[in-house]
Amino acid sequence: MANVNAGILGTGHSYPEGILTNADLEKIVDTTDEWITSRTGIKQRRKAGPGEYTSQFAVRAAQEAIERAGIDASQLDLILCATVTPDQILPSTACLIQAQLGAHKAAAMDIVAACSGFLYGLTMANPMIRSGQIKYALVIGAELLTRYVDYTDRATCVLFGDGAGAAVVGPVENDHGILAARIRSDGRYEEQLFAPGGGTKGGFTADTIARGDHFFKMKGNEVFKVAVRSMSEISRDVLCEAGLKTDDVDLFIPHQANQRITDAVANMLNVDSGKVFSNIAQHGNTSSASIPIGLDECVESGRIKKDDVILLAAFGGGFTWGGLVMRW
Ligand code: ACO
Repeated sequence: MANVNAGILGTGHSYPEGILTNADLEKIVDTTDEWITSRTGIKQRRKAGPGEYTSQFAVRAAQEAIERAGIDASQLDLILCATVTPDQILPSTACLIQAQLGAHKAAAMDIVAACSGFLYGLTMANPMIRSGQIKYALVIGAELLTRYVDYTDRATCVLFGDGAGAAVVGPVENDHGILAARIRSDGRYEEQLFAPGGGTKGGFTADTIARGDHFFKMKGNEVFKVAVRSMSEISRDVLCEAGLKTDDVDLFIPHQANQRITDAVANMLNVDSGKVFSNIAQHGNTSSASIPIGLDECVESGRIKKDDVILLAAFGGGFTWGGLVMRW
């Protein structure tokens, strides 16, 4: 299969019905709508109910993406589910999704790269499709972050929400699709954003649960600085590799971590604010799901048109980060 690029053929998204507003949080922790809005841009986030779990939303998002791609689930060769909030430890959420979809030909596995996971998935599927090793990949970002949020910690509990987004990736003409993609990580930053309990190191006992070791802990202002720098640098790198300039970008969809991070990155890159996507007010930070949810919302609203140059950038726990530029 010479002269083929990998491109997105269909997108989908799904999220819980439940909504947690800033006013709701004012009743739970010592915070205000004014603080949350001015520091983060978030007004509300989705929150799954007790009987709901990650793969339910992933499957709905995936079914929509598969239908819009015009293929059958049985044609999928690969399923990558980016999540730090899997249904269970074993098997992978991707395998659970595979069974629900009836995608029995596919290889399936999870990607644990926090908020950058969806870009990790696209970046890994890209060369497999270009080389002809596989034809169709399903890349999903799906999270129920509210299950790992400590609702006594006002510095983190206001940020995170639940949801899932998916994209079917497959062969497209070689001047379209993914033009450049890069992923990076630096594990030296482990303790800036982590959940120490629940694994073989921190343990999973009545004591660790009582201490809340399984909850996300974050040094927010440290994360903030590295996030802005890393997302800006990797965005410049992928644009340079694709032979494009910032002016060529029609739409920039950054990971939705904080409106101030988005504004700072757009400012450093000199991207016109009218080209920068944001849905953080409605969804908060949904980690790996935020970019595919954003992509699908842009498709649905007609904001993405054929031939548009789209820049994606993400940053998350690990630290991990990634950038990708594609022509739609
Ligand atoms: N309501 C009211 N006050 C608060 C709240 C709150 N919800 N949270 C913190 N504060 C207070 C702090 O206690 C502090 O008070 P003090 O000055 O009396 O000590 C003050 O506000 C300032 O705290 P900072 O942490 O410095 O506030 P900052 O402006 O940095 O905003 C935030 C915090 C929103 C967390 C921001 O740092 C941020 O968004 N960081 C990046 C998050 C991110 O990108 N994470 C990566 C992706 S997530 C993933 O990978 C799963």
